[in-house]
Amino acid sequence: MWVFLNGNILREEEARISPLDRGFTFGDGVYEVIPSYNNKPFLFDEHLERLKDSLNKLFIPLPGVLDELDTILYELHKKNKHKNQSFYIQITRGTQDIRSHDAEKDIVPTIFITSQSLQINPYRNSPGRIGLRVRLEEDIRWARCDIKTTGLTGNILSAHDPSKKSCDEIIFYKDGIINEGSKSNVFILLDQKILTPSLDQKILPGVTRRFIIESLRDTDLEVKEVPISLDMFHRSEEIWLTSSTKELQPVHFVDNIELPKKRSQNYIWPKILNYFDY
Ligand code: PDD
Repeated sequence: MWVFLNGNILREEEARISPLDRGFTFGDGVYEVIPSYNNKPFLFDEHLERLKDSLNKLFIPLPGVLDELDTILYELHKKNKHKNQSFYIQITRGTQDIRSHDAEKDIVPTIFITSQSLQINPYRNSPGRIGLRVRLEEDIRWARCDIKTTGLTGNILSAHDPSKKSCDEIIFYKDGIINEGSKSNVFILLDQKILTPSLDQKILPGVTRRFIIESLRDTDLEVKEVPISLDMFHRSEEIWLTSSTKELQPVHFVDNIELPKKRSQNYIWPKILNYFDY
């Protein structure tokens, strides 16, 4: 795999980052995941905007190389050859001489990018396939999940608990209100209304979430951003998960309970998938 590290495109095995990089010692960095189809990044500007926003919120200066990000992704896509790819971009506060909570004054951010093959959303070609299996869990993460930090212990912890059965996604709730998935945003269809949790809940402002909301604005499928209680979630007619690599995928099992309208001809979610045009 070809990667980008601090100004150079090089082979993954040649890429070297110091163990004193604050990304390693403190998880002090941010990231983005950008899908790219036929070497055309999807919603590039929106991802770049969120990346800058995450950096600003962590007081990490914006690296100048971000001005050339589109060219770098284009080159990486060509070198890594897969038809469709997902780019992983990680920027940390940088490397320092000794481990210290306080960053050195002249510290320079580290920027690292990989790309890997991206599987097309399987629900595009076979909408009749069984939906995802999720489980609900109390949200134990920090209060600033609006920042896309690389510190994801709270997101991945439960998936590694050997006492728990594996599932496709874990949906976090706090005080009885749904927040988001461990790696996706959540939409439900209830009483024929499309609902999604509000950004006021300090969830990740998903680029896919925003794309869906904006695509449906002023249509009869308009999305409402409201608190979703566990009771509403359980009564949903449909549940969808969205992310840059998943696009939109339906859920069929919540904690082993099957959703009422399985494999219905009247599902709304396939209509929403048609908006993903790249
Ligand atoms: N995850 N919420 C969380 C906690 C996420 O990690 C993600 C994405 C989303 C969806 O955001 P977007 O539509 O911008 O991809 C919501 C990425 C894909 C990941 O960590 O790999």
